[in-house]
Amino acid sequence: MKTLIKNVRPYGEGEPTDVFIEDGVIAAIGENRDADETIDGDGAVLLPGLVDLHVHFREPGREDTETIVTGSQAAAAGGFTAVFTMANTNPVTDQPVIADSVWAKGQAAGLCDVHPVGSITQGLKGEALTEFGMMNRGDAGVRMFSDDGKCVTDPLLMRRAIEYAAGLDVLLAQHAEEHRLTEGAVAHEGENAARLGLRGWPRVAEESIVARDILLTRDYGGRLHICHASTAGTAELLRWAKSLGVNVSAEVTPHHLLLTDSVLDSYDGVFRVNPPLREESDTLALREALLDGTIDVIATDHAPHGSEDKCVEFDHAKPGMLGLETSLAIVSEIFVRSGLADWRFIARVMSERPAEIARLADQGRPIAVGEPANLTLVAEKDWTVDRGQLASKSENTPFNGMDFSHRVVATLLRGRVTSRDGQACAPANA
Ligand code: DOR
Ligand code: ZN
Repeated sequence: MKTLIKNVRPYGEGEPTDVFIEDGVIAAIGENRDADETIDGDGAVLLPGLVDLHVHFREPGREDTETIVTGSQAAAAGGFTAVFTMANTNPVTDQPVIADSVWAKGQAAGLCDVHPVGSITQGLKGEALTEFGMMNRGDAGVRMFSDDGKCVTDPLLMRRAIEYAAGLDVLLAQHAEEHRLTEGAVAHEGENAARLGLRGWPRVAEESIVARDILLTRDYGGRLHICHASTAGTAELLRWAKSLGVNVSAEVTPHHLLLTDSVLDSYDGVFRVNPPLREESDTLALREALLDGTIDVIATDHAPHGSEDKCVEFDHAKPGMLGLETSLAIVSEIFVRSGLADWRFIARVMSERPAEIARLADQGRPIAVGEPANLTLVAEKDWTVDRGQLASKSENTPFNGMDFSHRVVATLLRGRVTSRDGQACAPANA
């Protein structure tokens, strides 16, 4: 199969050029060769395929809200060529057979590489470790472990997990939340929550675990990743950890970069998320930390939920927001359109660095001859988010009705087109 992508600007730099792909690999740049399929980029920016270290697909267990196929379609529509699906499925992804089936279903759909994350503890109960080694050696080659949705709060268990993960050289991703400080909490602890009568989730609940786990990693080694950093204090702790040379990486979500708890006045359950939306001082500190490399990557925490769990009283709404199909637009609005950063920066925080952290050899690669054709085209194009038009099976996007100026117009996975104009392609086995 030969594909020609015409008129694209790699990393948004220089004059438009043509990229020729043969058998899944970039075979030539700047040569207009005969192809079976031609895509006219019309001056679009060409980026390495995006990689998301943190999504939730609900298969197995809640296939009514997202399946591996619909999640892959949402990923492809959003420009992603690889995602990591968290282990809080039902049953929990705590054994090789479950991880291997998620991987196999993703590969069969062929729209995005779906890497299952294994849980750190059996059944996410926080009591006994899972068999990291067996999951790592299975077909899925599980390389990241997390109890995301819950925190591994027991310090001795976390120490043992760190020692075990260090021996196998796998990544531990912590959802940092001291549950004793967040009992019943639904919103950021601050003026807004107090005024609205919502139980508060204090910053220290996150920061105390981040600090503890940085120190455990300093002393026991391994690679620690902090999920969805949400406070200015977490950014400060990460800056300090990196200055000490501790092997810690971190992610921030588009919603924590853009939204604050001021949106809670509507009491709309679509804005409930864990960790909660914070204050402007936090969003600004998180942007700064991403710009200076203190926070390594953007991850969406794409968390589909059905209307029966979201269109209810705020206290009863399940936490979580969709993210895959809007992330590139939000991030380009905050960083590129504003002039704070360029497309090289977007490539780094949404593709290269996540691939490095997860040790994916074929993702986040340079746009160069001989490299795998995992690619994303982004066009300057006004569009309005319409939750009814998303590829995801759920509609819980907090960005519904918002206008953006950039959109993913095509995604290619190993040379195969997986989305065009925001519409995902059918799975390979359909
Ligand atoms: O808002 C969230 N939703 N945060 C999490 O940590 C879990 C996730 C989910 O699974 O819905
Ligand atoms: Zn989480």
